[in-house]
Amino acid sequence: MTKAYKIAVIPGDGIGPEVIREGVKVLEKAAELAGLRFDFQCFPWGCEYYLQHGRMMAEDGIEQLRQFDAIYLGAVGYPGVPDHISLWDLLLKIRKEFDQYVNIRPIKLLEGAPCPLKDARTEQIDMLFIRENSEGEYSGAGDWLYKGKEHEVVLQTSVFSRKGTERIIRYAFETARKRGKSLTSISKGNALNYSMVFWDQIFAEVAREYPEVRTCSYLVDAASMLMIKQPERFEVVVTSNLFGDILTDLGAALAGGLGLAAGANINPEKTCPSMFEPIHGSAPDIAGKGIANPLAAIWSASQMLEFFGLEKLASSVLAAIEQVLAEHKVLTPDMGGRASTAEVGDRVVEVLSNMHSKMETLP
Ligand code: NAD
Ligand code: IPM
Ligand code: MN
Repeated sequence: MTKAYKIAVIPGDGIGPEVIREGVKVLEKAAELAGLRFDFQCFPWGCEYYLQHGRMMAEDGIEQLRQFDAIYLGAVGYPGVPDHISLWDLLLKIRKEFDQYVNIRPIKLLEGAPCPLKDARTEQIDMLFIRENSEGEYSGAGDWLYKGKEHEVVLQTSVFSRKGTERIIRYAFETARKRGKSLTSISKGNALNYSMVFWDQIFAEVAREYPEVRTCSYLVDAASMLMIKQPERFEVVVTSNLFGDILTDLGAALAGGLGLAAGANINPEKTCPSMFEPIHGSAPDIAGKGIANPLAAIWSASQMLEFFGLEKLASSVLAAIEQVLAEHKVLTPDMGGRASTAEVGDRVVEVLSNMHSKMETLP
């Protein structure tokens, strides 16, 4: 019997639907080549839905999503709906409700991708960011007291639990050990004298269980400088929610831009579905023009295949992306090309098919 995976698709806002359409195309071709089936169900949630219904997703949205093997999401947020509402009621809600506490973001310079660093070689920029994705600076704990009064006060409290900190650091050690790579922790213990001192302490504690993994620890300010000056220092990296958010946009710039940056929100225990999304936003400045780069969304589709255990198929999709970049014929304007979003998606599909005709079996 053909193996079938159930995928919930949330295209979302702005360029979200444009890039997700191409990702779905590639997944459909991948399924055909591998003799699998993906059953997609689309959910029209996002800012437009909010303007019609007064909410970002259906009331029982989380329950509806729970039965899927994975969620494939475009982007959330659009002018007209305050960002803290749109993001907290859809994207962040899913990450938290489904305990997707690991956010995996490859910062890998592919052949043919534009790099702002002079003379950078692909092997120098090959990092795997593991961002804490459930708490920390994004705990949502706080208050807004005496709102609008002269003495108003806002509190935004970071929450670092032992369980939350240990599990992400342990996941990063496991990943580094499996790959035979070093692990770098990025924190800020000199200024954040509770949360980050605690983080560093737990990193040191867990490190004792993994004597074979070479470790390194940087303060976040120095790390930002080193990512530019000596990117080869970073292999597997573990960091907090907010630092991970910021540093992976920096990393995206190093590896060719936001149009190429992919991310996976993982629930490693598989008690709830995991979610795959490009790390860029809805890009209102280019939405509707058909020029958004779909490669980040396609790369996150490849992360989904890897998560399903279809490693060969996942690598083929990544190899197809790399070939399209290296050919430099069919690329969107952010990569220096003149092609449309759909043309790039079609070219990835074509390259993937050609690759497959040269191989025997894929998954
Ligand atoms: P953005 O990532 O949407 O855009 C930043 C810049 O990168 C823009 O100039 C944009 O045109 C460009 N860009 C992004 N993706 C691109 C692509 N695939 N191809 C070509 N160019 C691309 O960030 P922003 O402008 O700060 O945020 C816009 C909205 O998206 C906000 O509402 C924000 O809250 C939201 N946002 C959502 C997510 C998400 O859903 N995961 C992530 C980031 C921002
Ligand atoms: C990301 C985004 C989100 C984050 C926003 C939109 C809440 O920037 O996935 O990188 O900060 O996690
Ligand atoms: Mn971000």
